[in-house]
Amino acid sequence: MLPRLWIATTALLFLTSCILCTNPGLKVRVTQKALDYGRQVGIGVLQQKLREMRIPDMSGKVRVKWIGKIKYSVKSIQIYQLGLPQSALKFIAGQGIQLSITNGFIGVRGNFRIRKHFFRTSGSFEVAMSRLSISQTIGMSRDSTGRPALRSVACSTNIGKVDVKFTKKKRWLYNLFRKFLEKPIRNALERQICPKVSSAISGLENNLKTMEISFKMNQFAEVDYSLVNQIQISNNAMDLDFRGQFYRVGQRKDPAFKPPPISLPSESTHMLYLGISDFLANSAGFVYYEAGILQMKITDKMIPTTSPIRLNTKSFSVIVPELEKLYPNLPMEMHLRATRPPVLQVTTNNINVQAFGTFDVSAVLPNSTLASLFALNIQASVSAQVNILQMKLIGSLQLNHLNLSSGHSNVGPIPVAGLELIMKIAVKLVVLPQVNLKLAKGVPLPNVKNLNFINPKLVVNQNILVIASDLQYHPRL
Ligand SMILES: *[C@@H]1O[C@H](CO)[C@@H](O)[C@H](O)[C@H]1NC(C)=O
Ligand SMILES: *[C@@H]1O[C@H](CO)[C@@H](O)[C@H](O)[C@H]1NC(C)=O
Repeated sequence: MLPRLWIATTALLFLTSCILCTNPGLKVRVTQKALDYGRQVGIGVLQQKLREMRIPDMSGKVRVKWIGKIKYSVKSIQIYQLGLPQSALKFIAGQGIQLSITNGFIGVRGNFRIRKHFFRTSGSFEVAMSRLSISQTIGMSRDSTGRPALRSVACSTNIGKVDVKFTKKKRWLYNLFRKFLEKPIRNALERQICPKVSSAISGLENNLKTMEISFKMNQFAEVDYSLVNQIQISNNAMDLDFRGQFYRVGQRKDPAFKPPPISLPSESTHMLYLGISDFLANSAGFVYYEAGILQMKITDKMIPTTSPIRLNTKSFSVIVPELEKLYPNLPMEMHLRATRPPVLQVTTNNINVQAFGTFDVSAVLPNSTLASLFALNIQASVSAQVNILQMKLIGSLQLNHLNLSSGHSNVGPIPVAGLELIMKIAVKLVVLPQVNLKLAKGVPLPNVKNLNFINPKLVVNQNILVIASDLQYHPRL
């Protein structure tokens, strides 16, 4: 009654919890294929753990048929073989993960002595235990730090068959003694199996605790990947909702926009599916804009030498004749600053960024003060390429269109069309390369120590980037 009630409540909690779900910036789906891989890696670990089981020495007096009371002692009992040839790891909706092991076997060896009055004998024996089954339920939840956590929920084990064999001589005699060996050895092992499984789970849990869920990108921004919802488990997958949001270091302020819901493809050919919403990039744009660092000074030195147009009044006076009279032969500077946070939009097979800013154009006077000449408002349409490299998202931008309009001017009317070329050169050859250099450092994705993507594939869907990947576990010893 109680367990059933418990399952019903958990299932209910599971269902209702999603009505209250916060949309994540990053959703990760773990499929059955990942469990199959986890099982392969995990069984080896578990097998090693189980080999650590110890069977204590035994001694005592027992009454044996035909012979009567004898004294016995059993020593040096050791596991010499242990195999877990059949196992399965499955999701259980609303609950967790179930590990089932069947047909396992354990081989044990030991020595014994028997005494009755002046008669003594000794020998060795082997115990073959087979049809070992272990059933372990692992609960998954979000811990107080926002990381996924594992815990052992229920474990049961059974050794189906125990077969004691003695060395050849005097076998008839020892066989009388057989049942006094079987039970204690079976019990000793059955008692230890679940705690060993539990300890293997703790090992895994310790590894999860090292999961990095917050990355400081630089002095201004950090990205938060703590879980925003409880882990959702269905019968064939597990979904983890990570915040996936940039914050100003030491200041948690949310932008006015919210993440859209993320729906992942209903595929299961890869171990992992990650849905990264455009919210992640837009929260970064918001943070950097609010921090006032989306700006840049452009001087003539930064314009490639191949450019026919230089950043000086002589060159510009071809377009703005007033410059020749007012500021002859002076170097110029441009200050570019964002006037709004950039907006990244992800549509099928396309990532586009709209950036809004102003170029303040000045002449540099001989005493180094700046004389403001004019301002140009720009709207740039940029396309983005995203790649994955070592659990990081690497972006790079390319200019599509540049729209200019004139702002204030101290040098008469500004022929905007005539300035298009130099502004394009400035954006293409100076601004974007600098931005790309920063983007090349990459945005790390949440990751667990020693776990890496294998052949990640990136698909651009409406509002989200989907990464489909397999995993490889590489413990560095
Ligand atoms: C720099 O020179 C300009 C014009 O020659 C003058 O108006 C301005 O006051 C000077 N500024 C400084 C700081 O000397
Ligand atoms: C540029 O401006 C024109 C006219 O205002 C507008 O129709 C167009 O969408 C803009 N293009 C971009 C890329 O912003």
